[in-house]
Amino acid sequence: MLTVEDINVYYGAIHAIKGISLDVPDGEIVALIGSNGAGKSTTLRTISGLMKPKTGKILYEGHDIAGVPAHKIVGMGLCQVPEGRHVFANMTVMENLELGAYLRKDKDGIAKDMDDVFKKFPRLLERKDQLSGTLSGGEQQMLAMGRALMSRPKLLLLDEPSMGLAPLLVKEIFNIIKEINESGTT
Ligand SMILES: Nc1ncnc2c1ncn2[C@@H]1O[C@H](COP(=O)(O)OP(=O)(O)OP(=O)(O)O)[C@@H](O)[C@H]1O
Ligand SMILES: [Mg+2]
Repeated sequence: MLTVEDINVYYGAIHAIKGISLDVPDGEIVALIGSNGAGKSTTLRTISGLMKPKTGKILYEGHDIAGVPAHKIVGMGLCQVPEGRHVFANMTVMENLELGAYLRKDKDGIAKDMDDVFKKFPRLLERKDQLSGTLSGGEQQMLAMGRALMSRPKLLLLDEPSMGLAPLLVKEIFNIIKEINESGTT
């Protein structure tokens, strides 16, 4: 489904990614492991189109998406949950979820997916009118995942989904990741 081939990514003069290659087969869960500063986030940000590799290829479902703008990549079914969640703090839970479906026009499908997100994360339903900036860290993680799911991703990228969460919640989030994968998302 995804093949990253020998990419090199720079922040100005800083050579952050030095020739990373990886494969993500359709239907699987693949984990990228590395120490702080190793380049995990940069790799994900490059795949999702927030950065452009200087050299190398990123093949997603056969298309080279290196340098394609991020919103176009989301439209192709590849969506990222960023490190640190980045929910829209001054908007409600519901509004954040609606924004996840920004590129879609199928109203019925959007309503159904919203229901599914609330089933997966009942806590978000209880707090649907709450401003997202006032959610706990774990709830914000759920919201960031729910928002990504609202784009109907075929391939979901999660950057440190367990960062800063209590062990019990980490277990819950990982179970939900398994569930998302079993329902067909790579
Ligand atoms: N905006 C930036 N400008 C300059 N250098 C950057 C920038 N963002 C990241 N870097 C550098 O790129 C390298 C890779 O960083 P990256 O954030 O991808 O690592 P990471 O593996 O996600 O680390 P962590 O586990 O701490 O999240 C680091 O050396 C970092 O200092
Ligand atoms: Mg990171």
